[in-house]
Amino acid sequence: MNTFSSLGLQADPIASFSSWLKEAEAAGVAQYEAFSLATVNANGNPSVRTLLFKGMYRNGFGFFTNYNSPKAEDIRNNTYAALLFFWQVQARQIRISGTVEKLGQAESQAYFATRDRGSQIGAWASAQSEDLASREHLLEQVKRLEAKYANQQIPCPPHWGGFRLEPQTMEFWQGRKDRLHDRFEFTRTDTEWTYRRLAP
Ligand SMILES: Cc1cc2nc3c(=O)[nH]c(=O)nc-3n(C[C@H](O)[C@H](O)[C@H](O)COP(=O)(O)O)c2cc1C
Repeated sequence: MNTFSSLGLQADPIASFSSWLKEAEAAGVAQYEAFSLATVNANGNPSVRTLLFKGMYRNGFGFFTNYNSPKAEDIRNNTYAALLFFWQVQARQIRISGTVEKLGQAESQAYFATRDRGSQIGAWASAQSEDLASREHLLEQVKRLEAKYANQQIPCPPHWGGFRLEPQTMEFWQGRKDRLHDRFEFTRTDTEWTYRRLAP
């Protein structure tokens, strides 16, 4: 068996990602669904933060956030972004880059409905990344909203929802002895993926 297939990689990098994600979970990687999202603002300055992967949406990597947040503003200015998964237990890294677009409202609402009530209230209560005078102020907002939505379903806020990153490149990195790591980079051309091996 060659290295490529012995690593569980296939010609389809999204299927390869799914295998590695399952293997990370099975290996007991803590927060295996956490990834870094890098975006670039209107001045060309990058920023990066951790998010949770919430599944594939029409072959795009799905995540959820506040549409008024700095990351969402960055995406509006420049739809090109990058994701990074790092699974230390297995010495694996996956780098992904591509273009990001908002999920449909129905998709965001469907996911919002699966969140626990506390997180649903949180999405309403917090103006993500804006100035916050005090923690008490945030807790007051939570109390107010709990009273407002008592015994009711909490609707998905209009300023909250998902994005999907449609991959154009995906690189799988497997750490090996003596820094002789294995790296395979997939690139999409129209609808087809090709891959090449990279030097570590
Ligand atoms: C483990 C972990 C998971 C996180 N998951 C999310 C997430 O799924 N969505 C989100 O909006 N923020 C999440 N955050 C918070 C973000 O890292 C970030 O602080 C926030 O989204 C504001 O980012 P921005 O100001 O760049 O828009 C998470 C943080 C950590 C450490």
